[in-house]
Amino acid sequence: MKKKRVLILVSSDSGYRQEREDLSGPVIREIMEEQGYEVVGIRIFPDEQKMLEAQMIQTADRGEAELILTTGGTGFSPRDCMPEATKAVCQREVPGIPEAMRAYSLQFTGRSMLSRAAAGIRNMTLIVNLPGSPKAVRECLEYIAPHLGHGIEILTGEAGNCARK
Ligand code: MTE
Repeated sequence: MKKKRVLILVSSDSGYRQEREDLSGPVIREIMEEQGYEVVGIRIFPDEQKMLEAQMIQTADRGEAELILTTGGTGFSPRDCMPEATKAVCQREVPGIPEAMRAYSLQFTGRSMLSRAAAGIRNMTLIVNLPGSPKAVRECLEYIAPHLGHGIEILTGEAGNCARK
């Protein structure tokens, strides 16, 4: 089976200005490579909704990756806009993934309820928001990563619909 491709999209003003090293992107890379994915890139953008949307649209519409994992920009800071960008470009929402992350993460911190993360589908690409810190990324992604492949296979037609088994 062909390797699934994942693009990592970082939303961070300080990361974009190179004032802070991005540590979350490499954590995502490590976990997804362990899961057998090909990481097509780690792109760092400022917390600018239109720029984030443009990257998601390009990747999905050109079919450059079956999965986009984002990090950062899901909190309450006035410039946090990753969920808004994600919802704006997706044709279908996938609420179960962020619901599962928030519920699972309550065991680590009650603050997981403050995450506004979203997930959805544009064309044949699944887009999932992860939190910003490397610790939170690892906690969330290790939990959801094993289940993403099945959804992608249904989306791309590699797997049949479960109900028809
Ligand atoms: N989820 C897990 N698993 N672990 C964490 O430490 N931090 C929370 C939450 N989700 C956290 C978590 C915090 S403090 C915030 S403010 C939100 O994610 C949003 O994070 P972001 O603004 O870095 O995207």
